[in-house]
Amino acid sequence: MHHFDYRDGRLYAEGIDVAKLAGDIGTPFYVYSEATLRRHISVFSNAFSDTDILVAYSVKANSNLAILRILANEGAGADVVSGGELARALKAGIPPQKIVFSGVGKTEEEMRAALEAGIYQFNVESEPELDVLDALSLKLGKQAPVAIRANPDVAAGGHDKISTGRKEDKFGVAWADARRLYAKARAMKGVLIKGLDLHIGSQISELAPFEAAFRKAADLITDLRADGCAIERLDLGGGLGIPYGAGAVPPHPDEYAKLIKRVTAPLNVQLIFEPGRMIAGNAGILVTRVIYDKKGEARRFLIVDAAMNDLIRPALYDAHHDILPVAKHAEASDVTYDVVGPVCESSDFFAKARKLPEVAPGEYVAIMSAGAYGAVQASQYNSRPLVPEVLVNGDKYALIRRRPSLEDMLSLESNPEWLD
Ligand code: LLP
Repeated sequence: MHHFDYRDGRLYAEGIDVAKLAGDIGTPFYVYSEATLRRHISVFSNAFSDTDILVAYSVKANSNLAILRILANEGAGADVVSGGELARALKAGIPPQKIVFSGVGKTEEEMRAALEAGIYQFNVESEPELDVLDALSLKLGKQAPVAIRANPDVAAGGHDKISTGRKEDKFGVAWADARRLYAKARAMKGVLIKGLDLHIGSQISELAPFEAAFRKAADLITDLRADGCAIERLDLGGGLGIPYGAGAVPPHPDEYAKLIKRVTAPLNVQLIFEPGRMIAGNAGILVTRVIYDKKGEARRFLIVDAAMNDLIRPALYDAHHDILPVAKHAEASDVTYDVVGPVCESSDFFAKARKLPEVAPGEYVAIMSAGAYGAVQASQYNSRPLVPEVLVNGDKYALIRRRPSLEDMLSLESNPEWLD
């Protein structure tokens, strides 16, 4: 469910006319709907209303401070994977007691910042990381609350590049090694075991892989407790998919919750979730202007002013995003386009052989479901400025990230001043 709908043939973001917004902001730009964000976080939380949970929004999906503030205001915590994300979460007012820190390559500097902030949990992903965290905590006179991320070796439906829970993936510790590492951690003075963590992938559209992984986790908790480890929390990661308009329709959070409650009820643990896409994905669109309609020999290309550097998902994962005309014309007939950007790569496309109502140069189209892994994965490739982000709330809008000027972009570079 989202709040991007047509009224009299014009696309609206909540109460804002997207074409008018495009005139004010200039294209391309992202628009987010506050009502949609709030709705998604509450649908997720309500699915677990009778359970002890922490929803730690996965900041990597969309880390704009204004978005984080909305989620903080809804009571969400944060799952962060870098010192930068930690700083954002704290700046947005997410209490450290609701922050978990995941990632395979936490540096000592990042761990120090997290220890000093007093975060809720480190999700430790390897033995060397455990050693470093223990030593650092001791040095700082602290004790780090930890969960160990174990890799359940479950293949989860999503694209190969976003599957994380198979034994070939770099994430977590080997399942068979988990008990040994917990025993080692128990003997450490710098860490305090709190729970178990797993995350199996992203854009997962069926319950079976979740069920397989969560059942394994429940068994492991039983074993760990038998070994004498006090496990109070189970972090189940993120990964629940969203409808993109094509492909499988993922389960509703209520069904996901039902499964989880069934599997975890006997464990008596606090559940932690790290949803990202599910919260932000359908809360954002990328608005772009048609530059040319180019009739090639084999294809008709709709060349738009957004490109792969602004939204890389189609290029990187062959991802489908619905594309809608911002103004619908009753008389327009369907045309099969390749919708492409101006970047000099053949992978710079948003859709191939896509049927759309005919649009003319100067008109706008909206690339849907772009709120997660959109702006955050943007680059300045081809020296294209990062695009602005706009937040809509009812019939008001606000610029929440401005478009950098060319001077801004060039200001970090300098003539060499040689040092030896
Ligand atoms: N927790 C951990 C440890 C993760 O690695 C991720 C995502 C999440 C939570 C959130 O997963 P979500 O609920 O959003 O599925 N760039 C890719 C997605 C990469 C996901 C990486 N990890 C894409 O655009 O599809």
